[in-house]
Amino acid sequence: MQELITKTVPTGISVVTVRSGDKINGMTAAWVTQVSFKPAMIAVSIAPQRYTHTLIEESRYFCINALPAESMDLAKHFGFKSGRKIDKFQGIDYTNAIKGSPVLGSAYAYIECEVVHAYEAGDHTLFIGTVVDSSELKDNVRPFIFRWNDFFGKK
Ligand SMILES: Cc1cc2nc3c(=O)[nH]c(=O)nc-3n(C[C@H](O)[C@H](O)[C@H](O)COP(=O)(O)O)c2cc1C
Repeated sequence: MQELITKTVPTGISVVTVRSGDKINGMTAAWVTQVSFKPAMIAVSIAPQRYTHTLIEESRYFCINALPAESMDLAKHFGFKSGRKIDKFQGIDYTNAIKGSPVLGSAYAYIECEVVHAYEAGDHTLFIGTVVDSSELKDNVRPFIFRWNDFFGKK
């Protein structure tokens, strides 16, 4: 079922970053989409057990970092370990968006959002944000498209 959904509703792979005070974190996310044109609004679906979820609830901001197609190692780095236990930014090059969310050096574009809605959606929370900062950092980059089996094998 999950593989079929992923094929039917293709998405890119991003790293969602967040800053709450002096704490920063990021996690790989496939469930990210635009949901409004004016104002521009972005939704991201994040499970409550993620450390990123805790920090977004604290700060009310998040940042979508778009990854190029050749980012498998980075996607695994941010997607299979929790920032509750380790500092995922150790050795990772980043700058800060306007509200302080980390912007990965390897991202080709980013959009920082302020949370304006949060809905319970099954076992995830749908955070919807309006854009507060954004930039394209590299032109003509092939995006990293999510394929279930590349990460999770057959299910
Ligand atoms: C390719 C990929 C896509 C993922 N997409 C999501 C997602 O959209 N939402 C989510 O809650 N977790 C997603 N995850 C899982 C989180 O990235 C993972 O649980 C991460 O370790 C959470 O880190 P944190 O505890 O530091 O926030 C994805 C993982 C991978 C590998």
